Amino acid sequence: MSKPQVLVAVKTFSDVVDRLRPHFDVETHDTDQPLSQEELIRRLQGKAGVYISGSNKIDAALLAACPDLRAICTMAVGYNNIDVPACTARSVLVSNAPDVLTETTADFGFALMMATARRITESEQFLRRGEWKHWSVTLFAGADIHGATLGVLGMGRIGAAIARRGHLGFGMPVLYHNRSRLPAAQEAPLGAQWVEKDELLRRADHLVIVVPYSPSSHHMVAERELALMKPTATLTNIARGGVVDDAALARALQAGQLAAAGLDVFEGEPQVHPALLACSNVVLTPHIASATVATRRAMSHLAVDNLIAALTGGTPPTALNPEVLKS
Ligand code: DGY
Repeated sequence: MSKPQVLVAVKTFSDVVDRLRPHFDVETHDTDQPLSQEELIRRLQGKAGVYISGSNKIDAALLAACPDLRAICTMAVGYNNIDVPACTARSVLVSNAPDVLTETTADFGFALMMATARRITESEQFLRRGEWKHWSVTLFAGADIHGATLGVLGMGRIGAAIARRGHLGFGMPVLYHNRSRLPAAQEAPLGAQWVEKDELLRRADHLVIVVPYSPSSHHMVAERELALMKPTATLTNIARGGVVDDAALARALQAGQLAAAGLDVFEGEPQVHPALLACSNVVLTPHIASATVATRRAMSHLAVDNLIAALTGGTPPTALNPEVLKS
């Protein structure tokens, strides 16, 4: 009997992909340029499963055009690129890759916040341009991290890991806002206090945004919200482009409504709003918060674990709609 066919639509570690071969006929995509939607649909003909990343879009039109699909496994934790209800309606299993990237992503969020507050890239560029002529008392004077108030917008696994770093490592009072408040037993070890979103924006010295993207979080931080922040505050976004209104952020930075921003994600990435590129008080990175070799390997392994289980009668470890397996 011929094996089911799967597509690995992301260029990833070949030894991880090899784990699929005993079970499936495996087709791969061998460049870092994401497949166009048209090409993705073409290459999914006859495929029972697909391994994707946050760069591939799975919507109702694709599902209708690929009737053999039974499993969609993303190596990302975020899944705003997948229409999960549409998949469920067609009994297509969807999985994501939570947990394995939590600590790595929190490390990066903290690093980006620190680089932003302490003006690390801005000062390095100044030095590389040969503009450093003498030491000065106020040269690139930034804001302290230790003892400053950390604001976490979105207290999921990554938000909690950032709060823990701030509380235990840097003695930061931690405020957070989340749709649902954590039980007191989970707040206590993080030293975290729930506040309304506007209060968080008003009181945070360093705001870190970790909320998942959805229509309800679109432009959750826009002109009105930015105007509430302290002029000395920093904003770090490691969530998704679209949670912050990038054009409004650039205007707020130019107007001195906040001191600086650290951004790993952008609306319409890989395009970056030109006004942000023109701001010197912004640290910009290309969506790399989970990018360590060990973590990207763990994310890839988890997507493969899910794909194998979904198509061989097993239990996918991190399914988002496990109910489809019962139907
Ligand atoms: C994730 O896992 O969601 C990261 O943002 C990488 O896409």
